[in-house]
Amino acid sequence: MKIQWYPGHMTKAKRAMQEDIKLIDLIIELRDARIPLASSNPDIAGLGAGKSRIIVLNKADMAEEEINAQWVTYFKERGLECMLLDSRQKQIVKRLYPLIEKASAAKRERDLKRGILNRPVRAMVAGIPNVGKSTLINSIAGKASAKTGNKPGVTKGNQWIRLNKNIELLDTPGILWPKFEDEHVGTMIAFIGSVNNLIIDARELAAELLDFLRRRKTGILDARFGSEFSQKEAFSCLEEIALRRGCLKKGGETDLEKAANLFLTEFRNGKLGRISLEEPGDFADEESKRE
Ligand code: G4P
Repeated sequence: MKIQWYPGHMTKAKRAMQEDIKLIDLIIELRDARIPLASSNPDIAGLGAGKSRIIVLNKADMAEEEINAQWVTYFKERGLECMLLDSRQKQIVKRLYPLIEKASAAKRERDLKRGILNRPVRAMVAGIPNVGKSTLINSIAGKASAKTGNKPGVTKGNQWIRLNKNIELLDTPGILWPKFEDEHVGTMIAFIGSVNNLIIDARELAAELLDFLRRRKTGILDARFGSEFSQKEAFSCLEEIALRRGCLKKGGETDLEKAANLFLTEFRNGKLGRISLEEPGDFADEESKRE
């Protein structure tokens, strides 16, 4: 599915991020654990040049445990600190702090050599829309001590949240954008609901998701709809969902759009279970292009 969409505010967000990034030492890059590559930003390495970077696979509670573990290994093998998270769980969020300390050890050593003592590491949360940036910042802010207040050179409104004596976090996330023009990325982002619904035909998208699940996650469809379901072609599945859920138009004709939206919502709310849409093995040949 090719997504022709580049929201105007993305340009503004990029400029804001370029400004904010000057203030920080470390980027906490949030990705969606269901699509760790499609939810990345193609320019992040360039934007964050000279900064430390941690990859947080958020919404790990919605992705398959075994595949989550494979992704952590994947990133670690490529020299990136990585962890799994459900950023709604405030007590779990604290697990992030040791990773930040680890990722910023080199910076602290540099400071020490220059005679700079006790300057906290400054971090920012960044990621594409809907990966859970605000949720993470709120979970941290709830736990952390009071905000440290405005500082010279900081954009008005930006504040630092003190996590502990060594770490401060910018209270505003950096907004990045996915590589929409890549067909695979567009489809994955649309599946998880991070594209404006108005620009997508729900029936087409639901049929594509059904096709994907039929090919890759047969057991999940069978568990939800019965074992003969995944044998059917995607639009027949959609018909059946419409009939089963009573999605009918006035004359009794099936309302496929309503059925499609129901199905997409069920998937996005995790009603079909934990589903990883990308697996490291899928990208063995082209990973160098993506990371
Ligand atoms: P953003 O700032 O990156 O755009 O994302 P935001 O925090 O607004 O989160 C987007 C949605 O994802 C929210 O749901 C939020 O609750 C949910 N979310 C964030 N982190 C996690 C996680 O680790 N696991 C799961 N399962 N969900 C997560 P929403 O339905 O849009 O809002 P709400 O009704 O929860 O407030």
